[in-house]
Amino acid sequence: MELKRELFFSKTTRMTHFLFAFFIILAYISSGSDLLLLPHSIFGAVVLLVILLRFFWLFLGENGAKMSSFDLSLSSFKNYLLHYFSYKNTKPRNPAASLSAISMWILAIVSVFSGLIFVGAKYGSGFFGILYNANFDMHMIKELHEISSNLLVLLAGLHVVGVMSENFFKKTSIRKTMFDGKLHSDEALEQPNAVHNSIILSSAVTLVVVGWATYLFINPKNLLFDSSSNYKNYKVVAPTIAHECTECHMLYPPNLTNQKTQLEILKNLSNHYGTDASLDDATLVAITKETIDLAPQNSQFRFDKDTFLQNNQSLTTTAKWKHDHEELGDMWFEENKIKKTNCKECHSGIENGSITPYELNKYGRLLF
Ligand code: HEC
Ligand code: HEC
Repeated sequence: MELKRELFFSKTTRMTHFLFAFFIILAYISSGSDLLLLPHSIFGAVVLLVILLRFFWLFLGENGAKMSSFDLSLSSFKNYLLHYFSYKNTKPRNPAASLSAISMWILAIVSVFSGLIFVGAKYGSGFFGILYNANFDMHMIKELHEISSNLLVLLAGLHVVGVMSENFFKKTSIRKTMFDGKLHSDEALEQPNAVHNSIILSSAVTLVVVGWATYLFINPKNLLFDSSSNYKNYKVVAPTIAHECTECHMLYPPNLTNQKTQLEILKNLSNHYGTDASLDDATLVAITKETIDLAPQNSQFRFDKDTFLQNNQSLTTTAKWKHDHEELGDMWFEENKIKKTNCKECHSGIENGSITPYELNKYGRLLF
């Protein structure tokens, strides 16, 4: 026999629950691949918005959305575990559900922020772009991101197991609660009012969330991912290179490899990747000076590690380049008739010295 259940969670509360779960799943599925870093970051940013909306809903929502419906006492949790079958809830939500919900929100916030700090420090993207080039412990922040995300997913799994177990052993039909908002309780529950439970409000929340996701997809150069503050305008800071070295190909920016490699190229211009790219002495002096000023001792992209590339060696033959592009594959380049060495075909910021997963053109963005 099914126990009597009453409406307790409004449509809006149920919708934020779905949105939270849905975008966490999407963020989790899209993790781990550089090619998917843009969608992954967007899903993370959407999770953050859902938490923010849910935070306001703690105060503006119905009783079932409020903090007072959560039982966060650890002794209740202990009793709940020890006396699982006879446990009587003191709050509408049981202690396990309460603690897991709050923990998941906190873990999600930690996970999204550590992710944003990571891309800020690594690519100079977004608010945390100020950490770019600061001697930042990338390893630690990456670890924090991975641990918090994995714990979050683990807790979500335990939450599902908990729901199924309650459902099975206690016959409370709690499984249906996320759809119909009804909860079994021995005490009378205060129902959501018509505004809390309105289709208009829950649709508006959904629209805001989906709108945010769409905005970020259409416009990857946004406050969260933009790294143009680190752009260098080489036409201004290295006018001779920008003029002379773009006659036959795109501008390979001076920060792409290290100084030693680039000075080696300048020494051998008469034998330059199968052509003669010799320059008159005055121009060569100017270019050498610009190169010394702008090329780093150790390149941040590390195609050349700490040594330097051989004369006429293409970046695309380095292990690092192959590793960065292994998801594309040689066949893919042939089929799409794209020259590997024409980096700007995919990396939109490269001629300004910037390579990030958020700055990919049509061909670099395989999926959308
Ligand atoms: C006369 C034409 C010409 C000029 C001028 C020229 N290059 Fe090149 N460069 C080439 C060719 C051809 C390649 C091989 C391109 C390819 O494989 O797609 C090349 C390749 C390169 C590469 C290697 C790209 C890779 O695959 O890693 C670098 C770096 C480079 N050039 C730098 C320069 C610099 C710096 C200057 C200015 C001093 C310059 N080039 C001027 C013709 C030229
Ligand atoms: C056909 C498109 C395409 C071309 C051409 C291309 N790349 Fe890429 N590159 C990608 C994609 C896609 C990725 C993976 C996504 C990412 O990490 O940015 C990538 C990744 C990278 C990365 C790693 C970025 C990171 O996440 O740390 C570097 C560095 C890079 N490319 C440099 C180059 C250089 C230099 C050239 C030219 C010699 C080049 N790429 C040519 C598509 C391309």
